[in-house]
Amino acid sequence: MPFDPSRPLQGQKALVTGAASGIGAAIARRFAQAGAAVGINYRSDPGPAEEMAQEIRREGGEALPVKADVSKETDVRDMVAEFLEAFGRIDIVVPNAGIQKDAPFADMTLEQWEAVIGVNLTGQFLTAREAVRHFLKQGADPNVSRATGKIIVVSSVHQLIPWAGHVNYAASKGGSMLMMKSLAQEVADKGIRVNGIAPGAIKTNINRQAWETPDAEQKLLKLVPYGRVGEPDDVAEAAIWLASDASDYVTGTTLFIDGGMSLFPGFREGG
Ligand code: BGC
Repeated sequence: MPFDPSRPLQGQKALVTGAASGIGAAIARRFAQAGAAVGINYRSDPGPAEEMAQEIRREGGEALPVKADVSKETDVRDMVAEFLEAFGRIDIVVPNAGIQKDAPFADMTLEQWEAVIGVNLTGQFLTAREAVRHFLKQGADPNVSRATGKIIVVSSVHQLIPWAGHVNYAASKGGSMLMMKSLAQEVADKGIRVNGIAPGAIKTNINRQAWETPDAEQKLLKLVPYGRVGEPDDVAEAAIWLASDASDYVTGTTLFIDGGMSLFPGFREGG
């Protein structure tokens, strides 16, 4: 199939976890517009994922809502099996599902720690492992993509920036970063590309209190040199590029989509 830059994911099958809202939803929607059949993973309420799937189908695309708690091994296995049954192959996997359970360190419960590590890090491990197994089994199809498979791990600027009051979250994202790089190193010779995206402050539910009021937004913008809070589509654009053959020589890297948040803006003055 000749590469069509207006539909860079034409003919590919992509599974996005945590796709019922926020960044995951934007990635699934934009992937579908770029020509991919998409699996829209949700954890409990099927409503928003079903709605999105219908919208995609109305626009002529292919979509499948798939339920799974990504921190559970059997759920992840079943999710991928369901996806494969519907679409026959798997080319792109985006372990994106993530949660926050914030607390001052001394008050953080083991439950809060385990819940965040479970979804953000173990969930990405389970999803990526299932993907690698199937990529290896099905092999490359040059009519679909140059790579045997692509994994795009959605991390955070907090894979780099320490975050007081959010130690569980930052630990999960730091772990996610080295999981991504180590895996990229391990499977590059099989033609599998593994990359990360590190979003900064993006307008979604997870950080609503940080941008919802003008006061909160002004405070947040002190940390964003580019001067605006990001939108989910800012992240989705990067995901399309990392999933497409346009980035075929890129593996083991992280794209920061953060308006400069990771540039240590506190150092604009002083230092
Ligand atoms: C967090 C958000 C936060 C952003 C920038 C994200 O990973 O989920 O709550 O606003 O990082 O600090």
